Amino acid sequence: MSTLVTGATGMVGRRVLTELRRRGLPVRGASRGSEQRLDWTDTSNWGEAVADVSRIFVVTPVGSALGHRVAAFLERAAEAGVGKAVVMSAMGTEHAPSDSDQRAAEFKAKELFDRVTVLRPNWLFQDFTEGVFAALARSRNGRLQLPVKRRTPVSFVDARDVAAAAVAALVDDHGGKEYTLTGPEALTFREVVRQTKGTDSPVWRFKPVDEATFYYRAADRGWGDRYIDTLNERFAAAVAGRAAETTDDVRAALGREPIPLARFIRESTL
Ligand SMILES: NC(=O)c1ccc[n+]([C@@H]2O[C@H](COP(=O)([O-])OP(=O)(O)OC[C@H]3O[C@@H](n4cnc5c(N)ncnc54)[C@H](OP(=O)(O)O)[C@@H]3O)[C@@H](O)[C@H]2O)c1
Repeated sequence: MSTLVTGATGMVGRRVLTELRRRGLPVRGASRGSEQRLDWTDTSNWGEAVADVSRIFVVTPVGSALGHRVAAFLERAAEAGVGKAVVMSAMGTEHAPSDSDQRAAEFKAKELFDRVTVLRPNWLFQDFTEGVFAALARSRNGRLQLPVKRRTPVSFVDARDVAAAAVAALVDDHGGKEYTLTGPEALTFREVVRQTKGTDSPVWRFKPVDEATFYYRAADRGWGDRYIDTLNERFAAAVAGRAAETTDDVRAALGREPIPLARFIRESTL
């Protein structure tokens, strides 16, 4: 029996897939661009995707209105005999409305599977090198403009810690656990940008902007309203101080301290 890693081309999923392979465990990566093609909007090959799978790592794309599709896929997976799920949502999802994409995936997994672990990471350091902040800065000569304040604190976490927690939950027994995964300290965006200059981060300068300016910048990139709205909600939560908390949950899941910014920088230097 195999593990199915959804979101397998993403920042966390890719690392989960790599680690399970390194351990010699049977695993298939699934997404639109993966060896096991999986599109949440296309049910035609879902049977093939869940065949011979006993455990699943679940990633629901942000702001995509795909929550009910992911829930339907999880039903298919349960029917096919999957017994264990590790669901990645985001810090604060426990306070989101029950019909929101991420919360709905959490609830559905708990309803369907015997063993469920929920991972709720804060913003990732890798957003600056691979993810949404890198994408925004690349199109604006290294300038990152976000709707937060100069001093908005965020306990950014390393995607490697999130992936390691996912692997631990898939392989060992963390059933029933819900981990809010943060880094070891709260930092401002400005501080992270200042320190990551000279690494493979394309972000060179940071400027706070209002929500409307961010909306236009993001819409210019062709991003959909729902995705932009979801990002805006997460930035608003950060401005309200709800992304600043540091938790002990990386230690609880992995038995070691979370990776600090200095190590992230050291290991992502060109
Ligand atoms: N980035 C962060 O800082 C952060 C922090 C906390 C939580 N999260 C959570 O992590 C998850 C991923 O977010 P992200 O934006 O950071 O993602 P990401 O790393 O870009 O990964 C998104 C993954 O979803 C897959 N995907 C997108 N649309 C799909 C579709 N229609 N069907 C199947 N797979 C699809 C993508 O693969 P293909 O393109 O190959 O299909 C990719 O592997 C979200 O649930 C988010 O809430 C992210």
